[in-house]
Amino acid sequence: MAFSEQVLEEIQSKADIVEIVGSYIPLRRAGRNYKANCPFHKEKTPSFMVSPSKQIFHCFGCGAGGNVFGFVMKMENLDFPEAVRALAEKTGVELPRFTRSQFETSGYALQIYKLNELAASFYSSMLSGTDAGRRAASYLKERGVSDDIAAKAKLGFAPDDWSGLINFAKGKGVSVELLERAGLVMPREGGGHYDRFRNKIIFPIFDIKNRVVAFGARVLDNSLPKYINSPETEVYIKSRHLYGFNFSLQAVKEKDFCIIVEGYLDFLVPYQNGITNIAASLGTSLTELQARLIKRYTKNVVMLYDGDSAGEAASLRGLDIFLQEGMQVRVATLPKGFDPDSFVRAKGAGEFDSLIAGAADLFDYKLGVLASRYDAKRSSDKAKMCAEMLPTIAKVSDAVLKSEYVKRLGERLQVSEGALLSELKKVRPDREYEPSEELSSSAGKSQAAMAEKIIIGLMLDDPETIAQVKEALKAEDFTDGGTRKIAEEIFSSYGDGKSFKPAQLINKLAESELTALIAEATSLTDDIKDRAKNLSDCIRWMRCNNGKSRLSELQNLIKAAQMMGDEKRVTQLVAEYSGLVKCQKDFARR
Ligand code: UTP
Ligand code: MN
Repeated sequence: MAFSEQVLEEIQSKADIVEIVGSYIPLRRAGRNYKANCPFHKEKTPSFMVSPSKQIFHCFGCGAGGNVFGFVMKMENLDFPEAVRALAEKTGVELPRFTRSQFETSGYALQIYKLNELAASFYSSMLSGTDAGRRAASYLKERGVSDDIAAKAKLGFAPDDWSGLINFAKGKGVSVELLERAGLVMPREGGGHYDRFRNKIIFPIFDIKNRVVAFGARVLDNSLPKYINSPETEVYIKSRHLYGFNFSLQAVKEKDFCIIVEGYLDFLVPYQNGITNIAASLGTSLTELQARLIKRYTKNVVMLYDGDSAGEAASLRGLDIFLQEGMQVRVATLPKGFDPDSFVRAKGAGEFDSLIAGAADLFDYKLGVLASRYDAKRSSDKAKMCAEMLPTIAKVSDAVLKSEYVKRLGERLQVSEGALLSELKKVRPDREYEPSEELSSSAGKSQAAMAEKIIIGLMLDDPETIAQVKEALKAEDFTDGGTRKIAEEIFSSYGDGKSFKPAQLINKLAESELTALIAEATSLTDDIKDRAKNLSDCIRWMRCNNGKSRLSELQNLIKAAQMMGDEKRVTQLVAEYSGLVKCQKDFARR
């Protein structure tokens, strides 16, 4: 993060969240907190609250939540640094000059951009200037990559040499240290360095300002791994970039939608065939930051991933991410065995365009996938399909569209719309959702999530309890991915009993979906009277609950120990087993 904790805290101490939120929407006092109709979703009765003592906001209706920076981000559609700058200005806090954009044009970052440029030109000269390079060039030809697009994308070839780039760079006066910082060379055990990329086709990765931030490299045969990439460096954070997006910005704006594919070739081949509003996520999982980057140019995307099960899973994940960002997303499906690259080459740009035009909306796509996984005639499967559809529908921001989807879901699955609507109310966007008893019987898991949230909330309320929790539980004991990460952060940063505000923790996790979860956890504990008892109950509950998988593990261990004739160990294991069983019985009785 570009801003220091001190600066963020100074701004927060001057930008009182009640005042800031109150300057956008009318707040009403309700006990220790303030209430309002949530500005982030439509509602008639207020479920949005602001806590002056904790300096956070949280909406029990839509799940939005965070600190004052998060509020301004959401309200004004800003990214984190922009929100910090806006509030710094408002409160008269002077920001240190070292903000991100300045950092990028100073010190190492600037040197790495220059070096990357130099390396790209070296690799590209190798493509045409050497025999091995010409073999690589003919491989690209075979793959249908035109000379034009190869030149535009500055494709290159890394020679089969441990020090090809090192020697070239040395000749230009570049230090090995900088080469290593740029991720272009690796240290050799026992001293010295060697080129990271050898005997590979090179794909420079650009940022939207056309600077080379990293490289991807492909083998020339079928060996594995197929691709290797630059590591993250001062100028390259993988999750922030989309391959080829620098070349497609204009077309994306003009056509007002962006096609998202997976791989380098899936970008290059369609692009050279005139499909210019396209970018590649590189690897299967699209990130939130990539979605936000696209959103700066268009709100509409069509995902086009490989026609296999990995592609399907990636499409489903991507769908939710785009929805979460309030974007309109459709999914096009390739025939099995095709990827966008091979499809364009086999069928041409015209059919590619039709495929994109015929992309399914999120509802049809996801229901189609579910229909192939479940049997919609069986009622238990129907419940599972609803349970998978609802969290996605809940993320649709357009209320009319959302109710339309609920209606369609009811019709398709022959489930009453009323039941779906009441179920939908329980689904929080950004959050893991557990269907109710009627739809499924996995209530245990949501109870676990609740216990975990309460523990987090209580630790945030009273840092003195952190030590107690740390003693009883490890971060891995938290079963929900979100609460686990928060617990990790709390355990590692705040174990010493020093006081801190939830709003501070939120700063550390500022750019993730965890902030809303923190806000929720801390609001949940507002009304708890006997905190000590609640804390120990929740800890005990978690230990018992986690014990369930330990039980079956123990059964196997006991069998094994018996077979080995290790009586001491058998006794020990049986003691642990019966202790766990007793604990669970006690709990079930309460
Ligand atoms: P694919 O396996 O679909 O490769 O991986 P591809 O792009 O179609 O490659 P070609 O057509 O065989 O050349 C999709 C993307 O996942 C990343 C790369 O960004 C790739 O473009 N990937 C894949 C890796 O980073 N490493 C790998 O080993 C494989
Ligand atoms: Mn491919």
